[in-house]
Amino acid sequence: MSNTNDMNSENVGIQSEQSISGIIFLVGYMGCGKSTKAKQLAHRLNCPVIDLDAEIVTKSGKTIAEYFAAFGESGFRDYESEMLKTFDYPETCVVATGGGLPCFFDNMEWMNAHGETVYLQMEPAALVSRLHNRQKRPLIKDLDDEQLLVFIREKLQERDPFYTQAKLIVDAFDLDGEKLEAALKTRA
Ligand code: S3P
Repeated sequence: MSNTNDMNSENVGIQSEQSISGIIFLVGYMGCGKSTKAKQLAHRLNCPVIDLDAEIVTKSGKTIAEYFAAFGESGFRDYESEMLKTFDYPETCVVATGGGLPCFFDNMEWMNAHGETVYLQMEPAALVSRLHNRQKRPLIKDLDDEQLLVFIREKLQERDPFYTQAKLIVDAFDLDGEKLEAALKTRA
C-alpha cells in the first residue's frame, strides 16, 4: 500500500474467524502495555509491528521528552497526528499508538475508518504500578505514586470517551498476545 489516503475502509479489519487482516491499532493509557502486546500479537499474526512513538523518535531524531521540550505538547500532537495519517502501513500490521493520540483531532475516527481499533483498558492503580520509568514520559515525569494516581484518574475521565470509541475493548490486566488474538477473532 503506497498511499494511506487511498485505503478503502471497507477492505480493512477482521475478515473471517480464521484470518485477521488489515491494520490493528492498539489504544490506551500510558503503561497499559500497548507496545508489548502489539509485538506479541504481530508475532502471532506473522505481520509487522509499528510503534508510532518510536517512528516519531526515528524520524525527528528526538526522544519524546526532547520533542515536548522543543515544540511543546501542541507541537507533539500535530506531529503524532501527521505520523498516524501519513505512515505507509503494510496491508496487515499491528500498530501501538501513544496514549494521548486517540484524544486529539479526529485521530480516533480516522483509525476506526482505516482499521480495527482495540482499547487496552486498565484500572488506574494497576497503571501506576506499571509506570516505573516516568522520565521518558514528559506528562508524568515529576509525579510520585500518589500524585500519579490522581492524575491518571482525572486524565482517564477526559480520555475514556475517546478510548471507548474503539471497536473492541479488552481488559489489559492479564492480557497476552494469545488472548488478544482470541478477542479479535470473536469480532469476525
Ligand atoms: C502520552 C503517551 C506516550 C507519548 C507521550 C504522551 C500521553 O506514549 O506519546 O509521552 O499523552 O499519554 P505511551 O502511551 O506509549 O507511553
